[in-house]
Amino acid sequence: MTNDILTLLNQHRSIRQYTDQPLTSGEITTLVSAAQHAATSTFAQQYSIISITDPAIKQELGNITGHHWLEKSGHYFMLVADQHRNLKIAEAANADTTILRSFDKFMASTFDVAIAAEAIVTAGESLGLGSTIMGSILNHTQQVIDLLHLPELTFPLLGLAIGHPAEQPDLKPRLPQPLMHFSNQYDLPADFDDQLAAYDEKTADYYAHRNSHLKKITFSKHIVQELQRDPKLRAELIQVIKQQGFNVN
Ligand SMILES: Cc1cc2nc3c(=O)[nH]c(=O)nc-3n(C[C@H](O)[C@H](O)[C@H](O)COP(=O)(O)O)c2cc1C
Repeated sequence: MTNDILTLLNQHRSIRQYTDQPLTSGEITTLVSAAQHAATSTFAQQYSIISITDPAIKQELGNITGHHWLEKSGHYFMLVADQHRNLKIAEAANADTTILRSFDKFMASTFDVAIAAEAIVTAGESLGLGSTIMGSILNHTQQVIDLLHLPELTFPLLGLAIGHPAEQPDLKPRLPQPLMHFSNQYDLPADFDDQLAAYDEKTADYYAHRNSHLKKITFSKHIVQELQRDPKLRAELIQVIKQQGFNVN
């Protein structure tokens, strides 16, 4: 089964090299509109998007993420969990605002941001643009908060670099569906090990032959390697979330 949208979705790859061509203001408005029309938990629209156009801020974000290539993207968005705007609305109505500080609401903002980010990625791809979602802004969250003057009940969740692609990476093979799609209950298949071994072979082949950044690694080794990062990295996250006013105990 296929159509243009399915083809687009199944051709997704993150793009990290861009031409010099910036996005037009029309393209930026179009992408933000696509994000805005995504589903949003309880229709609370509890996120904001900050366009980063100041080269000095982009450079600082390059330092924070270690991804200096973001500075060369056609545009950079920061997607921010935002209960602050709704706090102002609630305060103006003299309402009890306790719930806005809850973990539930923090998660709702997280969902809203993630869905909005994917809408921008897909809308961008439909326009011939390429992008990369960036969780690496969380490496130094407090710095991002200070840099962007984020008020109480906001929290930076994802960066998003987008632009005209100057690379066409090979598609990363995904898990076989029996390892991630079950019926009625969580149910890894009895031949899990064999299916994983086959997928490891497939990913090893991908990493060994893709058109850049060749590596000798499998999916399983990649998962284990991810665990070897410095445990101190992002250890302060929960503290920073609390400092922003969220009650995440
Ligand atoms: C929440 C999230 C955070 C991500 N953070 C980063 C990041 O900080 N740096 C980066 O280069 N890619 C980042 N990515 C992109 C993933 O590495 C990429 O989607 C994954 O390797 C699959 O590759 P593909 O998108 O090309 O299919 C992120 C993706 C998601 C969904």
